Amino acid sequence: MSRPSILHLLNQAEPNTIVTARGWVRTRRGNKAVSFIALNDGSTIHNLQVVVDYAKINEEDIKAIGTGACLKVTGLLVESPAAGQRVELQATEIEIYGLADETFPMQKKGHTLEFLREQAHLRFRTNTFGAVFRVRHALAFAIHKYYNDNGYIYLHTPIITGSDAEGAGAMFRVTTFEPNAAPVTDGVVDFSQDFFGRSTHLTVSGQLEGELGAMALGKVYTFGPTFRAEQSNTSRHLAEFWMIEPEVAFNDLEDNMNLAEDFLKYLVNYALEHCKDDLEFLNKQYDTTLIERLQFVLANDFQRLTYTEAIEILKATKHKFEFAVDWSTDLQSEHERYLVEQHFGRPVILTDYPKDIKAFYMRLNDDGKTVRAMDVLFPGIGEIIGGSQREERYDQLVARMDAMGVPTDELWWYLDTRKFGTAPHAGFGLGFERLVLFVTGMTNIRDVIPFPRFPQNASF
Ligand code: 4AD
Ligand code: MG
Repeated sequence: MSRPSILHLLNQAEPNTIVTARGWVRTRRGNKAVSFIALNDGSTIHNLQVVVDYAKINEEDIKAIGTGACLKVTGLLVESPAAGQRVELQATEIEIYGLADETFPMQKKGHTLEFLREQAHLRFRTNTFGAVFRVRHALAFAIHKYYNDNGYIYLHTPIITGSDAEGAGAMFRVTTFEPNAAPVTDGVVDFSQDFFGRSTHLTVSGQLEGELGAMALGKVYTFGPTFRAEQSNTSRHLAEFWMIEPEVAFNDLEDNMNLAEDFLKYLVNYALEHCKDDLEFLNKQYDTTLIERLQFVLANDFQRLTYTEAIEILKATKHKFEFAVDWSTDLQSEHERYLVEQHFGRPVILTDYPKDIKAFYMRLNDDGKTVRAMDVLFPGIGEIIGGSQREERYDQLVARMDAMGVPTDELWWYLDTRKFGTAPHAGFGLGFERLVLFVTGMTNIRDVIPFPRFPQNASF
């Protein structure tokens, strides 16, 4: 039996046919003769208006129906006299799947996002989170579509990793030892007795394994969860977030930038084309410049410049920063946002960072001081992508690892790619939630992932 969604009923179903709709009640209002029920099933931001005529359905039978209840409604779909909706449903039969009493937390409209974060199990039932998670889905789908259509292989890299040398951030340990009963040899925990016979962690990035794939499959991408045990209690950090990491054989930094820009524009355009209703809602509700900003990103080239040039701009401005800028220090979010939002007024790609503030695997430039790194910076977000051309020369790579204290013996498998048929290659990581933040115009990253993980929070 086909079960038409409310999206289908609102936009496509023939008027003057008998249909059945199922969904959750957003509101019920009415008078002595009729009730109007706004029904939503998550397929669209719009509600189906159900008209309950007490001449056809006993008022007593629907008296208990309030916000949050779940119903199955059968009736005649008719053209709606009301503005803003093509059709409405004249109910002839209502089955109550489940009632919700007055303690239902989403009873009233206008709850704050902070309050709704505490109700993460129910917040899907609000317009805002319905919109956000439909957009999130569309973007995830578009990511796979983009890479599939461009000949990339989706590579599943491990979530549990034996390498803790990637240097992208603090890691969560994975063990089956009970905290107080780990075997100790000579005063240190003996992980050779642990499940994997070694020390293991949750991955911070799929890049190193992605590179192994690229050195045989040519063009690969990963799209999976990554984990960072940092005490970053900010609106842009999560302890568990999703990352997309393309890695491409024979690409240099220029190709890498072109890929990043094309990819981001494709995704923004996909959302504008496929999530119109949801974006219009978010635009109206939270940020009236949202759609304009998305269109602006599509219409303009990203500004490309080196880290060194950026430092000169930041030093020359009269703008007051909390943190001082100096060549060789990492840029703070306030610096990134100044460049994007005030100086250039568009997305920026910074390249060629000092080697000491970037990871060991980035290709060393001939100046011996900078590496072929790139960060893509977005308005309102700061860094949305981090990537680089990789150091493909064995000797240079080993020298960098030694200098940075990265154990070459542990990463023997990574070094093998440089020993056997090495090739220039490049890649980057896009933080999925930062992308969803940008596209939805939400301002806190905890509101764009269904169940956010951050310090002191993993309750559901
Ligand atoms: O710049 P990052 O650390 O780069 C890497 O992990 C590389 N291995 C990527 C690569 O070259 N394949 O992280 C990449 C992106 C950042 O630009 C940011 O968008 C996002 O991941 N990100 C986070 N998003 C949410 N919460 C966090 N704690 C994040 N840390 C990084
Ligand atoms: Mg980074």
